[in-house]
Amino acid sequence: MVHCEGDVTVQIAFASYLQKYRIKTDALYLAIKDAIINGTLPLHTKLASTRLLAEQYGLSRGIVTQVYDMLLAEGYVTARSGQGTFVAYRYEQPAEPPRPMHKAALSKWGERVRQLRKNQLGDGYHDHCLYPFHWGHTDMSEFPVKEWNRCMHASLRQMQEDGDVSLRDPQGDPALREAIAAYLLRNRGFAAAPSQIVIVNGSTQAITLLAQLLVEPGMAAVSEEIGYAGVKQAVAAAGARWLPAEIDGSGIIPGSWEARLLFVTPTRQFPTGAVLNLERRQQLLQWAQEREAIIVEDEYDSEFRHKGKPLEPLKALDRRDRVVYIGSFSKAMPSYMRIGYAVLPKALAEPFCAAKELYEPRATGAVEQKALAEFMKSGAYDRHLRRMKRIYGSRFELLRRLLPAELPDLFEWVESDTGLHIFGWWRDSEERYERYAAICRAEGVRWAVARHGKGGTEGLVAGGAGNEDQANRQAAVRIGCYFHFIHMSLKRLEQGVAVMKAASETLNK
Ligand SMILES: Cc1ncc(COP(=O)(O)O)c(C=O)c1O
Repeated sequence: MVHCEGDVTVQIAFASYLQKYRIKTDALYLAIKDAIINGTLPLHTKLASTRLLAEQYGLSRGIVTQVYDMLLAEGYVTARSGQGTFVAYRYEQPAEPPRPMHKAALSKWGERVRQLRKNQLGDGYHDHCLYPFHWGHTDMSEFPVKEWNRCMHASLRQMQEDGDVSLRDPQGDPALREAIAAYLLRNRGFAAAPSQIVIVNGSTQAITLLAQLLVEPGMAAVSEEIGYAGVKQAVAAAGARWLPAEIDGSGIIPGSWEARLLFVTPTRQFPTGAVLNLERRQQLLQWAQEREAIIVEDEYDSEFRHKGKPLEPLKALDRRDRVVYIGSFSKAMPSYMRIGYAVLPKALAEPFCAAKELYEPRATGAVEQKALAEFMKSGAYDRHLRRMKRIYGSRFELLRRLLPAELPDLFEWVESDTGLHIFGWWRDSEERYERYAAICRAEGVRWAVARHGKGGTEGLVAGGAGNEDQANRQAAVRIGCYFHFIHMSLKRLEQGVAVMKAASETLNK
């Protein structure tokens, strides 16, 4: 009972509030405040005296006085001296009863992003399946857990000693940036100043931020067709016009695109695996110079070349500082780690950091970053890479031999001596492809697919068909399929291919 005027009293739901909030002061305060806001205690209503209310609910007068003071401070009630405490809030009857929000009114950017998510993945992409060729992740059974734990413990100890300082730099842990610079010089043949390196949450974050930073809605951005879906999504989210750059067996075909931004995978075209020759590399750099454009070079798995020496990245030829180099630890380290990096031209380093800082004023994964720096500095990373190259190399050899041998007719397999997936073009009709993919899916085999000529952001669709936009399809759609293998044992790979072979026989019946 709160309102007390003559005989009129109004009950407040103190008991149920107490059950919910446990603390008497909170419960009383919220019970009265809610009664005022929802009109149960209308404007000018006189509240019961502190003594009466305390008696009513078995509270101390101190608690009631404290609650009245809180309501007074917030303006819900006024106190008139000698007369009592009165409601000071005018309740307005809403024109129609409040309805829960079903659809948030989004900005154009928000709408674009929402749409992208809808198109992004085919049904069941994350479902467990027996032969998951559709995505690859580090084989954790081969990961040097002991060494990594040592680095994580050292990192935690250091964090405790340094306190907050080590979390401050959104550009990324300085020791990790130094270790990456040393790695790049040793293994990728170019010098990068740690001040131009920014640690990101996987290279996807760098790609997205660069699209946001470098294109206005309506402007053009170029990327390979077929190519990495994440790039197309970043371009679409930025509201930019996506210009497809054709590819052939030697990677991207340089064009005179009217654009200021190009995303490219020169070391190993994604997903076909083609290596870009020197002449084309020089043409791309020339184009960037003439257009004052930026080239984003995405090196997503260059650590794993199974034969010969890896080619130098485009960045090593970049005399005019027009190339952003992006690298990732996603293929070498546990997938949950989400650490990538961007090496930025001098003029872009500061705006890029500012953009990153907007989303993350403090470094995320600071413990892992520091641990990774130690892992690299101690030589454990190089040892791990050497070992994984051997292990992945034998899986690669097996799959590279088996797929063309067991499935010679359905796919045109692309020769490659490097990488962490095997690529093939589907040779037959789209309709037969859908049937084949469905048979394989039913048997637990999935793979990733990129369709040439489909435009925009195609689904990264496991085992074939997904939620696709029919209108987007063109007559000459070419279907590229790629098969990840690093997370599967030799036996599992053999079994997966055997299932695919059996499915091809079913298709031909
Ligand atoms: C070509 C390409 N670029 C970028 C990425 C994103 O990698 P990250 O895990 O570092 O975000 C991937 C992921 O598989 C990829 O295949």
